[in-house]
Amino acid sequence: MSMKPDVETERGFRDILGEEAERMDRLVDSARKTFKAYDYRPIILPIVEPAELFVRSVGGTTDIVEKEMFFVTDGHEDTGARESCLRPEGTASAVRAYIKNGLHMSNPIQRLYYTGPMFRNERPQKGRYRQFHQIGAEMFGVGNVRADVEVIAMLWAFLRSVADGARLRLVVNSLGCPVCRPNFTRELLGFLQAQRDALCEDCRRRLASNPMRVLDCKNEGCRKVLIDAPNLTTFWCDPCRAKVDGLNGGLEELKITPTWNNWLVRGLDYYTRTVFEVAAEDGLGSQNAVAAGGRYDGLVEALGGPSTPALGFAIGVERLAMLVSPRESPQTPRLYIGATSDAMRTQASDLAERLRRHFAESPKPVRIRLDLEDRKFRRQLDEAQSLGCEYTVILGDEEMKNGRVIVRDMKASKQEEVLKDDLVPHLMKRLGI
Ligand code: HAM
Repeated sequence: MSMKPDVETERGFRDILGEEAERMDRLVDSARKTFKAYDYRPIILPIVEPAELFVRSVGGTTDIVEKEMFFVTDGHEDTGARESCLRPEGTASAVRAYIKNGLHMSNPIQRLYYTGPMFRNERPQKGRYRQFHQIGAEMFGVGNVRADVEVIAMLWAFLRSVADGARLRLVVNSLGCPVCRPNFTRELLGFLQAQRDALCEDCRRRLASNPMRVLDCKNEGCRKVLIDAPNLTTFWCDPCRAKVDGLNGGLEELKITPTWNNWLVRGLDYYTRTVFEVAAEDGLGSQNAVAAGGRYDGLVEALGGPSTPALGFAIGVERLAMLVSPRESPQTPRLYIGATSDAMRTQASDLAERLRRHFAESPKPVRIRLDLEDRKFRRQLDEAQSLGCEYTVILGDEEMKNGRVIVRDMKASKQEEVLKDDLVPHLMKRLGI
């Protein structure tokens, strides 16, 4: 019997490689660039967190916490210590870090972004994985609705810059605040209780835990009941209404047109007032939310910090990558360094190192290859050709004695001698850098 090593991944976990990995990598790079223009700073957060953190923030009766958490044990005897989990999202961790590191004391206004894997034990399907990746941004310390406008504008600018061809819809809602929301939930609960029998089993359970969640149930029976449900907008208090106007006005100034949907409630409990979601109109099937976020003005305080308004969003990188077309030409090395004799091999390595260092900082990084297998010069040129390199810098004993190298245009099969000292500017011109 052959002993085949088991190389399967766990269900819902996958290797991401090739073109898809390049696309996701590029998205993270572009997000960093966009977010830095808005003065966001990186924060690197743990992947394992106390489970209690998410119970207290996302909410103990939400699907994410109740059904989808991956618990972690350290393999030792259960000592009754608190449970750890793989983080299902990044907001709670960012808030925890804000409090733990006393960021509010150095400056209550903080703009932070993070990228990395999140874990939810959901039923896998297209665009839904148990390990997926988010790019998230959180702004702490500004309650003014201008912050909502800027955060949404940053998300929109980024999505437009990377997925320009995609049809995206920005859906927004205001969930009200601790002053006006309880009036709405009371009214809604009364209404739903009277219709209890027409609701699905999940929603009947939600009546006790979180009646607002019934609003975005996909079940047809529930949807029918909801047609006559009380309308959230009529319950907004004056300050909430003013924020809604401010948000609409600010977005309009930036030529961003949201769709209001008063049934958008989100599956996490920490939100107050503004919530939003960006959905792809086509290409993603049922899992079409590419990004989502909102305000969570009560969360910092609820987790033990000072009262601090905050808001943010997270983008699903796998989903966004599905909307971004692959690069027309795959990433190939552009430059090859060839050695015509064994004596030239060390010089070729030196030159490759020097050029790589030089071009690493350029806006269009250049991939550079050279032979590592002691191939004859002819075979090196064949390799350069098959890799698709545009130019080969050829080091020959005679030319080097005269302080020169040969630059060969691989497509045109033409070559010319260049002074070693002029090589960098010469290549920059040729490569269009
Ligand atoms: P969320 O809506 O749970 O919000 O997730 C944000 C995005 O992550 C979704 O819109 C989707 O693109 C992606 N996503 C979620 N679950 C999966 C999955 N199983 N597979 C693939 N992609 C997925 C949050 O996580 C909040 N922390 C967002 C936030 C930040 N709110 C304020 N600040």
